Parts: sequence; C-alpha cells; structure tokens
Amino acid sequence: MIAIIAAYADHRVIGYQGRIPWHISEDFRHFREITAGGTVIMGRKTYESIGHPLPGRENIIVSRSLSEALIREESAKALVAASLGESVDASVRTSAKTPVAAAPAETDIRFARNLPEALDLATRNRIFIIGGESLYREGLAYADTLYLTEIDGSFPGDKHFPELPEGEFQLISSEEHKVEKAENAERELTFRFLEYRR
Ligand SMILES: NC(=O)c1ccc[n+]([C@@H]2O[C@H](COP(=O)([O-])OP(=O)(O)OC[C@H]3O[C@@H](n4cnc5c(N)ncnc54)[C@H](OP(=O)(O)O)[C@@H]3O)[C@@H](O)[C@H]2O)c1
Repeated sequence: MIAIIAAYADHRVIGYQGRIPWHISEDFRHFREITAGGTVIMGRKTYESIGHPLPGRENIIVSRSLSEALIREESAKALVAASLGESVDASVRTSAKTPVAAAPAETDIRFARNLPEALDLATRNRIFIIGGESLYREGLAYADTLYLTEIDGSFPGDKHFPELPEGEFQLISSEEHKVEKAENAERELTFRFLEYRR
C-alpha cells in the first residue's frame, strides 16, 4: 500500500510558515495509529518542522540538497558523526532545531534524492507520504489510498493540499468528529476522517 496522509482546513490549507496552524490531539493520534509500523516519507522541510524522526516507523527524508556522501551512508549514524564536525551539509546543520544532529544513532532514518527513490528504499509494506505540499502533489500519482482529515475552519496558510484528480479516487469512509476547543481556534472545530481508494 502506498498512502498519502494529510490534514487540511478551508481552502485546503496544510501549513503556514513551516508549521501546521492548528493543534488537534485527536488528529495526531489518528495519524500515529494509522502510520504505526510503516514507512513514512516526507520532504526535508516537514522533517525539520517535526524536529525528529517519528518513532516506531521507518523514516525516509526526501531532499535534493543533502550531499551525495551523506545520502550514500543512508543512516542517521553517519549524519550524527558528520554533524560533530565532518562534512555536514549546510541545509541540515542550519535547520532551526538541528533535527539530524538530535537523531539517535540507531534511529530508523534514511534519505532519498526524489520520491521514486524513496519508494524504492522503503522496506515496509505500508508506505505513507506525509507531506509537505510538493510531495503530496507528486505522490498522488503513486498513491492507492488517501487518509485525509478535513477540518472545517479558516486558518492562515502558505501550503495547500492539491485537488484530487477527477474520477481517480473513491471515498470509502467518512467519520465525523468534533473538538470543543482546539488550540488556535476560537470555537469548537468539526472535522472528519476521510478514506479514499483508487
Ligand atoms: N497538514 C498536514 O497534514 C501537513 C503535513 C506535512 C507538512 N505540513 C506542513 O507543510 C509545510 C512543509 O511543506 P513544504 O511543501 O513547504 O515542504 P516539504 O515538502 O516538507 O519539503 C520541501 C523540501 O523537500 C525536498 N523535496 C520535496 N519534494 C521533493 C522532490 N520531489 N524531490 C526531491 N526533493 C524534494 C526539498 O528539499 P531540499 O530543499 O533539501 O532539496 C524541498 O525543499 C509545513 O508548514 C508543514 O507544517 C502539513
């Protein structure tokens, strides 16, 4: 299975200034439960915004800017060593939360130059493309399943979830939820977990 998993609000907003502009614990739990034990593939900026590899999952970070040498090593161990003074790539070292340096050596984390390479590298049966915008756009061509959280609410946004290609995905389930008071929202928020299949 290759799935896309995303949460979007009104106007398909998924992010603003490098972060997700809402905090809905139930949605984070939903994300954790669905992706548990699988491979998660993400863009470099999403990785930096999370700040660490996701535990219990194989993490693959897609980046054009990581150096060849670091990608060949394909291990957090090499990156940790590199961050201690060897040839670390500037884009990694200067990230706000130094996520790579913070990753323990045994962390299940790998790196790919592009999405097809990331899909090839994945060793688990359940593969999830977890963002951001550019990987979602590209990932729609590969995904057979979509787990989308649709939030009824207007949030500032500079990153968006793409429109689904017409006629390619069918909605197979929709589950309504409500939170009384979500962080960054003035009133109760309604949202739904949607599952689509190709
Ligand atoms: N609501 C949600 O479900 C959700 C989920 C995930 C993220 N987000 C939000 O989305 C925003 C981040 O998304 P984003 O679109 O700005 O960034 P992103 O896709 O996470 O990362 C972009 C970077 O990833 C690499 N990359 C992306 N596509 C690539 C490709 N096809 N081939 C090679 N490298 C590729 C490049 O890294 P290099 O520059 O290193 O080459 C690119 O600069 C944040 O606000 C985050 O909070 C929201």
